[in-house]
Amino acid sequence: MEWNINYEMGHPRLDAEHRTLFQVLATLSRGYCDRDLVDTQIKILEHYVAAHFALEERMMEEAAYPGIDGQRALHAEFHATVARLRAHWRQDDAPGVRREIIAELSDWLTRHIIGADHAYLPRVTTKSGPSSVG
Ligand SMILES: [Fe+2]
Ligand SMILES: [Fe+2]
Repeated sequence: MEWNINYEMGHPRLDAEHRTLFQVLATLSRGYCDRDLVDTQIKILEHYVAAHFALEERMMEEAAYPGIDGQRALHAEFHATVARLRAHWRQDDAPGVRREIIAELSDWLTRHIIGADHAYLPRVTTKSGPSSVG
């Protein structure tokens, strides 16, 4: 779960938030493989993700981004994925399950940042500008 220059959007706040999500996932992979600890870490990830998606959707709304419904649907899909994986973890807390969870979350996030997030950025920065979001 290494940050990669290809994930960079050139928007300081969004990049900082994306980096935080990566850090939370890295913590999840390094920590002690304890049922309650991992459960809490997944909840922390959910919390950061919810705040990040809310910011993105607000920016897209302000810029009247036409792809906002698509982004909303993808964000909702991720929330559902995290909830499903957490429930799965509660039933089976084997180290292999944790690895599968991390792999699925990492894969989804990297694809989402490179695909969907990079697509909305030009629209959002030309209309409202990165400095107006704070
Ligand atoms: Fe994002
Ligand atoms: Fe997004």
